[in-house]
Amino acid sequence: MATKKKALAVKAKKAGSTVKVALLGFGTVGSSVAKLLAASKFSGIQLTHIYNRDVERKRTSEAAKVVPASVFWTEKIDDVLTSDVDVVIELMGGLNPVEGWLRKALASGKSVVTANKQLIAYRGTGLAKLAEKHGVQLIHGAAVAGGVPVITGMQQGLSGDQTIRLSGIVNGTCNYILSRMETGADYATVLADAQQLGYAEANPSADVDGYDARAKLCILSRIALRAELDPDTVATQSISPVEAIDFTYAKDLNCTIRQVSRAQLDGTVVHARVAPMLVPLTSPLAWSHGTQNMVVASGRFGGDVVFSGHGAGGEPTAVAVVSDLLSVAQGCGVVQLPVRKRAVTGEFMAPHYLRFVVDDKPGIVSGIAGALAKVGANIDSLLQKPGYPKHRLPFVVTTEPCLTSTIEKAVASIAKMDCMLEKPLCLQILVSEDIPE
Ligand code: NAP
Ligand code: HSE
Repeated sequence: MATKKKALAVKAKKAGSTVKVALLGFGTVGSSVAKLLAASKFSGIQLTHIYNRDVERKRTSEAAKVVPASVFWTEKIDDVLTSDVDVVIELMGGLNPVEGWLRKALASGKSVVTANKQLIAYRGTGLAKLAEKHGVQLIHGAAVAGGVPVITGMQQGLSGDQTIRLSGIVNGTCNYILSRMETGADYATVLADAQQLGYAEANPSADVDGYDARAKLCILSRIALRAELDPDTVATQSISPVEAIDFTYAKDLNCTIRQVSRAQLDGTVVHARVAPMLVPLTSPLAWSHGTQNMVVASGRFGGDVVFSGHGAGGEPTAVAVVSDLLSVAQGCGVVQLPVRKRAVTGEFMAPHYLRFVVDDKPGIVSGIAGALAKVGANIDSLLQKPGYPKHRLPFVVTTEPCLTSTIEKAVASIAKMDCMLEKPLCLQILVSEDIPE
């Protein structure tokens, strides 16, 4: 998203003059951006301001040692907004107070680089219009898939195609958690590791409950499907109910589990969903480990294009931010195509994995089969491992393809059975046409 105006990125800069830069936020990504700028010493770029609350704590930190002595550290945002900086790099996160501050920055002729997916998903269109009005740029290459240039790749390299479907892994924290659980690690331990390593959002619920991936899916849909989606209307499902036993059963089905984000154009509607799903072991999505992200864009003319790399972490994300900064500084324009508001549905036609934990007694399977038959869902397989206590017995049913709403209706009625000790877990199973070659 950037100004339509011809390559006037840094307003009123003469060729050869220095582009002054302010950093808002000196956390995981902000400190890595300072490190990359110090390491590469790009000519014509000068970091002049760093803003953060309680800034002395940041100025005296280990990470600040690479920052040039000439940089002005401040905890007063007006020191930045009323300064002569040309580019504001926002790495604080959230909508407030960031949106208001960036509006002021754009209105005063400063270009903005941000990694803030919530801001871009919810307010990106309005901010882009403001940037255009003031002849400056708003770039957000780091907002999706961290260090993977998926936004630039789609904006520039795929604009000639008609992308009809997006699917992939866009949250590094969830991928880190699920790919470690696959090898036996426990959920709470790996989530704490992801936080400590700087992958997780300030509130990790944004990661594990799917809101981070949902914002990213909406940004990608705007660029690739040219469809404006309201993030609040995109169905999300948390990864937190996924347990070790699910990896065991998934393996028996030649699958593993990943948080998958999907969006597909269907006339004037977009089918979209963010959820943990069973992914066949033959799929590249199953081979994504740790913070690796992978996005598959399926084009009407060009077929599948896969973007992959590290989607979280200070340094990979800082690469995307610094690349955006260079792009702004050099006045590189971005292809702009019309975007339409689209309604969203969470419906997909897919086989499903249902995991139940029951207090065992006769008739449970027939009760489940009856509830599935009532909605027209056909059972494909039933898996039950020996060795679990009868009073807390996990087992799995998989179904043939059926609509999401159909399976949800059956699961809601099964959940009411007396024997159910937990809410049943219902996961989509990705089928071959959704999988990149
Ligand atoms: P972070 O480590 O929490 O850093 C945010 C920094 O901004 C902190 O120094 C924080 O100060 C400061 N800050 C936050 N709110 C503030 C406020 N209202 N006023 C003043 N200072 C404030 O977060 P991060 O991981 O660097 O992420 C920054 C942005 O990049 C977010 O939008 C995130 O979604 C995005 N992003 C992150 C990654 C990643 O892997 N980490 C990847 C891609 C995109 P305190 O220290 O006082 O909290
Ligand atoms: N918390 C995000 C993730 C950071 O884990 O993917 C990158 O956007």
